[in-house]
Amino acid sequence: MQKESIYKQVEAEIYSVTAGENYHIANMATIACLLNLAFDEFFWVGFYVVDPEKENELVVGPYQGTLGCLRISFDRGVCGKAAKTGTAQIIENVQDFPGHIACDSQTNSEIVIPVFDKENILIAVLDVDSTKFSTFDQTDQLWLEKIVTTVFTK
Ligand code: SME
Repeated sequence: MQKESIYKQVEAEIYSVTAGENYHIANMATIACLLNLAFDEFFWVGFYVVDPEKENELVVGPYQGTLGCLRISFDRGVCGKAAKTGTAQIIENVQDFPGHIACDSQTNSEIVIPVFDKENILIAVLDVDSTKFSTFDQTDQLWLEKIVTTVFTK
């Protein structure tokens, strides 16, 4: 199946399950689970949430995959860059990204999307890692941004 069709289907599932739910952790867990099931090459799907008690630090939230590191400073890794800049990061080959945090050597490419709440405050980043190189492009960015915006700004 084409990427577009998979996103269309998984998007509908996510909205259906999270309808009426405003607790962020429950919605993050649902998104991580359904995205991980939808794409074979997605190997780690999850959220790093902004720690309200520490300055410029992310702490691991709901995820599917192998063990992720617990904390990531805004100055480190792809997740940190997405959090610091507030912009999506698409990495075709993680070996080419200086400072990439290798939680698991199976990761070859990744996308990280910043997540904002309805007050436009950064609350987390969505990190999706793939076993293949160059998995992610603008299509993934648009769909993932649409999904997190819809779910976390309602
Ligand atoms: N990919 C991240 C690290 C987190 S894990 O891979 C789960 C990064 O470099 O920001």
